[in-house]
Amino acid sequence: MAAIRAMLAAETRAATAASYNVPDPCNHVQTKGDKVRFKITVVGAGNVGATLTQRLAERNYADIVLVDIVEGLPQGKALDLLQAGPILGHDSVVTGSNGYEETAASDVVLITSGVARKPGMSRDDLVMTNAKIVASVARQVAEHSPDAVIVVVSNPLDAMAQVAKAVSGFPRERVIGMAGVLDTARFRTFIAQELDASVVDVAAYVLGGHGDTMVPLTSLTTVAGVPVEQLISKERLDAIVQRARDGGAEIVGLLKTGSAYYAPSAAAAQMTDAILLDTHQVLPCAVYLEGEYGINGLYTGVPARLGAGGLLGVVEVALSDSDREALHRSASSVQQLVDIMDARREDIDASMPPLSAATTAG
Ligand SMILES: NC(=O)c1ccc[n+]([C@@H]2O[C@H](COP(=O)([O-])OP(=O)(O)OC[C@H]3O[C@@H](n4cnc5c(N)ncnc54)[C@H](O)[C@@H]3O)[C@@H](O)[C@H]2O)c1
Repeated sequence: MAAIRAMLAAETRAATAASYNVPDPCNHVQTKGDKVRFKITVVGAGNVGATLTQRLAERNYADIVLVDIVEGLPQGKALDLLQAGPILGHDSVVTGSNGYEETAASDVVLITSGVARKPGMSRDDLVMTNAKIVASVARQVAEHSPDAVIVVVSNPLDAMAQVAKAVSGFPRERVIGMAGVLDTARFRTFIAQELDASVVDVAAYVLGGHGDTMVPLTSLTTVAGVPVEQLISKERLDAIVQRARDGGAEIVGLLKTGSAYYAPSAAAAQMTDAILLDTHQVLPCAVYLEGEYGINGLYTGVPARLGAGGLLGVVEVALSDSDREALHRSASSVQQLVDIMDARREDIDASMPPLSAATTAG
């Protein structure tokens, strides 16, 4: 029976992998003993976390544990997602939990927990609030899944990745931030709209920190292989760059409450594919730099090769002087947030649960 189940699961996985245009995980990844499915944990069952869980469940290559502090929320969403399986044809087991016991030995953990900035809350307050959340999550993840790759999604992204790395004690290969894939997707979308082209023909990279200071590399952006600077005037291109920079704020302005989650969850799922299916795809990610691009000891968005085990390497592209300057400006705004957290490190440490008692989310 177990053999039939494994065989059927493998067939479904191959079909699903083909429909997502990713390699069949069974042909690509060595399975360990009886283990035929990956295990993923998504922390935060809000808009991004729940949509991400849906996208990953539909890929049918992993069982997923959804964790949140709100009682009933992850359990309810997990059950709902599980019941979509028979209709969509996936066997991913989705479980909801308010603790970390069920997350044990996850291959990938995606951290989406956090709060949005509220009226009257300063940027520094937001950093500290989310730093405490991400620190407490990272500590429990490290205890229960010591070999996992952590993908951080919570904002402010680069600073939260810095917290997750420091608290988990994981090497930089296993703590990566998601922002560049999303920022690049926004840039690609607007270029495709401008030229009435297919989004798949637009190749681009957005580097630097997530948000206002990101650095779209227009000189390396092509449409079906043609440099975009030959296709779009500088004036229009500058306007597109600015719209991509403001991409998150534009959506917040329209939604009034909450922020983007369809594209962010798609971006985090693409990174998960690259890691679990060992694709070696180069994606723009927030990576802890150790001298690359002249930056040391700080998370910043750069092209990164992802595969089994997380970060396989940082790809260093030759930058123009102005792009290099912009990247360093972006990195220094990340450093400012890190300095705020360093100055109040005791607050963050005090908010973390002791390891031995770390059985519930918080
Ligand atoms: N990196 C990016 O490009 C990007 C894009 C979009 C959103 N984000 C960020 O992702 C995060 C989530 O966004 P969202 O729209 O899903 O927000 P949301 O408010 O819908 O969900 C956040 C969830 O986190 C949970 N949570 C809070 N503290 C927790 C804890 N200690 N443990 C477990 N769960 C906890 C909340 O209960 C809530 O369900 C935010 O920080 C947002 O700014 C980042």
